[in-house]
Amino acid sequence: MEKKKRSWAEPYKIKMVELVHISTYEERKKAIEDAGYNTFLLRSRDVYIDLLTDSGTSAMSDRQWAGIMMGDEAYAGSENFYHLEEAVQKYYGYKHVVPTHQGRAAEHIISRLLIKKGDIIPGNMYFTTTKLHQELAGGKFVDVIIDEAHDPDNEHPFKGDIDLKKLQKVIDTYGADRIPYVAVATAVNMAGGQPISLKNLKAVRELTDKYKIKIIHDMTRVAENAFFIKDREPGYADKSTSEIVKEICDLTDGATMSAKKDALVNIGGFLAINDYELFERARNMVVIYEGLHTYGGLAGRDMEAMSIGISESVDEDHIRARVGQVLYLGNKLIEMGVPVVKPIGSHGVFLNAKKFLSHLTQDMFPAQALSAEIFLDSGVRTMERGIVSAGRNSETGKHNYPNLELVRLTIPRRVYTQAHMDVVAESIEQVFEHRDKITGLKMVYEPEYLRFFQARFEKI
Ligand code: F0G
Repeated sequence: MEKKKRSWAEPYKIKMVELVHISTYEERKKAIEDAGYNTFLLRSRDVYIDLLTDSGTSAMSDRQWAGIMMGDEAYAGSENFYHLEEAVQKYYGYKHVVPTHQGRAAEHIISRLLIKKGDIIPGNMYFTTTKLHQELAGGKFVDVIIDEAHDPDNEHPFKGDIDLKKLQKVIDTYGADRIPYVAVATAVNMAGGQPISLKNLKAVRELTDKYKIKIIHDMTRVAENAFFIKDREPGYADKSTSEIVKEICDLTDGATMSAKKDALVNIGGFLAINDYELFERARNMVVIYEGLHTYGGLAGRDMEAMSIGISESVDEDHIRARVGQVLYLGNKLIEMGVPVVKPIGSHGVFLNAKKFLSHLTQDMFPAQALSAEIFLDSGVRTMERGIVSAGRNSETGKHNYPNLELVRLTIPRRVYTQAHMDVVAESIEQVFEHRDKITGLKMVYEPEYLRFFQARFEKI
């Protein structure tokens, strides 16, 4: 008998719940005005379904909570550090680990260690904190992702791929000496959670080997990327997600990790490095900014939860259900005719705000306005990923105008049900129906760094 394809239902059952408040329209109107139309400035108690981010918002398993009770809070040499080190070596294959309180702390350390003033860092699309740390260390980020990644309608299966011609051109223009490393992200966040293929990564490795340039991997969502490789890349259907994760990591020299995503913890991250001499320097630097090299800004219990989370993150049933839920919401919105980034990414659905609010120009912050409008409709909190997130050009001081002007519906792992996804889709559909009446915003307060977190707006 032929086996029919089965649904992605969750490989767990619910043991404890967190009650949330379903607000009224009046409550939401006041809340979003008080927040200056910035969903980052809302109080969480005013939010019904929180799709701001998948960062630190996962539900931990009973095993992880049990791990929390096994915290060894020794200042030096905590047993939990050694468990973390073993997990990183076993599942990712990197040799040395420096724990950090979250991803950007690892980005800070690697940027300070490898980047000199005037250096160039090519990468497959920027990420906000990563690029800022590269700039603060004196470097300049150059985007070498394939053009398809900047087109929300292009259905290329690996929109996270690097354009080798662009990379070669950067090497020819600046010289390999000025390129400390290529920054390769898996499941490229700003492109919409789009994967890089192993074929492409192998070619990038070959090219960088030729010039003795390192590859530093932003492995924040590496398991999700591996899932797409298994699903889409010829030759990988019979490999496990875990094997693919390892193969990706093996092609790179080191990695920064925000364990708040893939690795299913509420706080934590690390820097992983193969080169011993570089690891020693990183280990020396972490004591200045984070804490001793066996805890790096974390409690012992956090490292224990992280090492258990790493093993759960590459489980086949887990990753299938995790990405399955994102695809469920994405396909529902596509059926409703809502413009979204295609293909649907791994950690969220990204609305194309330029198309959704085609009557607004980009300097009226359409994604910011749309995100506020969705909150007003239903209490669903989303995030702007467009002109506000892109910040200003560090040389000219003008706004960067990214091609992608998006609203991200980011799905926390193991937190919401299919019914929640239905409510979200219905709310977006409703907002889409009255989109013509949505007005733009003007920015009335702009912080110097990572402005999207704290900027305030008013309706035009
Ligand atoms: N790299 C990527 C690809 C990320 O998505 C993030 C965080 C970081 C690095 C930084 O890690 O937050 O632990 O310091 N992304 C969150 C988000 C904030 O909502 O996408 P962190």
